[in-house]
Amino acid sequence: MKTASMGNKFYAVVLAAGEGVRMCSETPKVLHTVAGIPMIERVLNAVRNTGVQKVCIVLGHGKDRIEHHIKSHKDFSHVDIVHQKKQLGSADAFAQARRIINRKNIHHCLVLCGDTPLIEKSELINLMRMHLAKHASATILSAQCENPFGYGRIKREASGAVAAIIEEKDATESEKKISEINSGMYCFKLSDVLRVLPRIRPNNVKKEYYLTDAIQLIRQEGKDVHACCIDDYSRIMGINDRIQLAQAEDVLRYSVLYARMRSGVTIIDPSSTYVDETVKIDRDTILHPGVMLKGQTNIGKSCVIGPQSFIQNSHIAHHVTVRSSYVIDSHIKSRTSIGPFAHVRPGSSIGPGVKIGNFVEVKNTTIGEAVKAGHLAYLGDADIKKKVNIGAGTIICNYDGVSKHKTRIGEAAFIGSNVSLVAPVRIGKNSLVAAGSTITENIPSGKLAFARSRQVIKNKKKR
Ligand code: UD1
Ligand code: MG
Repeated sequence: MKTASMGNKFYAVVLAAGEGVRMCSETPKVLHTVAGIPMIERVLNAVRNTGVQKVCIVLGHGKDRIEHHIKSHKDFSHVDIVHQKKQLGSADAFAQARRIINRKNIHHCLVLCGDTPLIEKSELINLMRMHLAKHASATILSAQCENPFGYGRIKREASGAVAAIIEEKDATESEKKISEINSGMYCFKLSDVLRVLPRIRPNNVKKEYYLTDAIQLIRQEGKDVHACCIDDYSRIMGINDRIQLAQAEDVLRYSVLYARMRSGVTIIDPSSTYVDETVKIDRDTILHPGVMLKGQTNIGKSCVIGPQSFIQNSHIAHHVTVRSSYVIDSHIKSRTSIGPFAHVRPGSSIGPGVKIGNFVEVKNTTIGEAVKAGHLAYLGDADIKKKVNIGAGTIICNYDGVSKHKTRIGEAAFIGSNVSLVAPVRIGKNSLVAAGSTITENIPSGKLAFARSRQVIKNKKKR
């Protein structure tokens, strides 16, 4: 069956109302990121890629923040949101979606958890295919796992048929030895799961209404329950604490790095390189150890991103070098060199062919072609035209304690060393500012400006 037409047969329900107590966090669990993307977004992406159009999320703890995040994402604005007022368990969460999903033309639901960020469309499609092919009442996505601690175990009858899911806290010693675990993802025939739902009781250690109990109840009615068991347990990892979050990050980090390497990027030391999945990198670019690339960042071809560089939400063109520097929310044009130890702050646009050297800070500043600012400078709220030379120790005094002001430096102006430019101020093109000057007034084009006291030479007093 084509995935699009299969998708029409399911309503997806994503359970994400839990408090996530084990995260010990102010941030709702499903908004924690893995390789730069919040967990809930990863789960919703996997669902979208299966072709399932109808999606409902159950929110509770941190509802407003999660809802805001989802609704501001163009791909998920259509998603239905329902509220679970008290977190009484996954069955109670699922029950909140009942009214929305119970449609005449949709007979099955795909249930997912918001805390399994590594799930991908292929596993979900296999699960849905198996569910439909076997005309099952319920189909569980399960996995073989060497260390099943913490997960629900799939208990089977002597015949091999699935009998129940036993939660870790309720399992006997022999049940704890079962290595097949519940992913928390299932397909249900809607009429069957909705019929058994009212019979689920909180008869367990946590005193919660477990959706996992629906499996046993459906099975006890003599209906067919199957498990679609996958080998790669990492795909269904559930994230309940920060250790599991780091484990998921590790799995995804390497898959992101390997994908970039396969497309022609050299990563000298993958074990110390961190690249969000949202980052695009062109071929023949080299990433040195300690590089972190985050958010909506694009890096062009044949760039060198040197050791310990951090680049976030920035656009880096071709043949750019960034060494041991921070670049945030900025554009770096081709053949420009940044660092070592430079700080490019938000709103900057630099290049092409520019040299920003060591201990130079740039903020909300546009820098034209072939500008040189080689050492120890602060360039804030400025517009610097092409071929300008910024001497060592140049400081733009952009802030008067109340407001920020603009500095404009014309083409090919030469700013000597240790100059303070007190904004607002304009430096004309081809002008020259003498070293050590404090410039408080505009300088016309082509002029030489001194703004310092003259050197005096006197005889030394005899002692
Ligand atoms: C759950 C499964 C377990 C499975 C594991 C896989 C149950 C009872 N157990 O355990 O068999 O191996 O996932 O990761 O389902 N939720 C709500 N409202 C609530 C409680 C939970 O929406 O009142 C949501 C949570 O946000 C979460 C999901 O349900 O997305 C599962 O809850 P969680 O507490 O993470 O259960 P686990 O202990 O991980
Ligand atoms: Mg969980």
